[in-house]
Amino acid sequence: MPAAGLGVRLGPGQPKALRELAGEPLLVHAVRSLRSVPSIGVVVVAAPASDVEAVGRLLAAYDVVVVPGGDDRQDSVHRTLAALPPDVDLVLVHDAARCLTPGHVIEAVVAALRAGADAVVPVLPIADTVKHVEGVRVLGTVDRAALRAVQTPQGFRRDVLEQAHAAGRQAATDDASLVEVLGGTVTTVPGDDEAFKITRPLDLLLAEAVLAARSSRSGRHAR
Ligand code: C5P
Repeated sequence: MPAAGLGVRLGPGQPKALRELAGEPLLVHAVRSLRSVPSIGVVVVAAPASDVEAVGRLLAAYDVVVVPGGDDRQDSVHRTLAALPPDVDLVLVHDAARCLTPGHVIEAVVAALRAGADAVVPVLPIADTVKHVEGVRVLGTVDRAALRAVQTPQGFRRDVLEQAHAAGRQAATDDASLVEVLGGTVTTVPGDDEAFKITRPLDLLLAEAVLAARSSRSGRHAR
């Protein structure tokens, strides 16, 4: 779980993973959602280098390994891979910033890996019209029916992911793209709107609303 980003687009404050959401750090929500899936074994978190000890204390109840993150996301993922025990052969890479990802998305990625996929990404159709632009000028409109927005967790056979990371130092915003450039096959499973990435201040408001709706649903079920 790469969680070492500063969250500059969220505005001034703590590193993103330590910002509070409904009274708890975002990272606690993220690890809890992973831990809610029984097939998840070892969890390795890449924390901001200056907060490794604090993150270790914060996550003490969740049985995680905490390593210092790197200068960019790819570097942070690389460091978590280096900390995996040798007997692990299927790996999920999950952005801490997608801290409300429902368990069924995580389970779908695991199931696709167990069914034999080399690499798996959760995807959603695109709601907006997408245009190709240069400066302020529109060059054309992309056929959105053929596009998907990609979420995490992304799942990999460990050897496939390690090979992709060893080969790739080109700037990549996700791990599956490193597999794609090596000619590997990446398959998709359905994502979920609630697996959105917390990036800007509005996303924090949305996340608070999702949590409030979940807790009122579970309150109704308990009654
Ligand atoms: O910046 P972005 O939102 O794309 O980051 C995606 C994920 O990568 C976040 O969970 C963030 O904490 C993580 N990240 C990291 N190390 C960095 C930069 C980002 O672990 N140096």
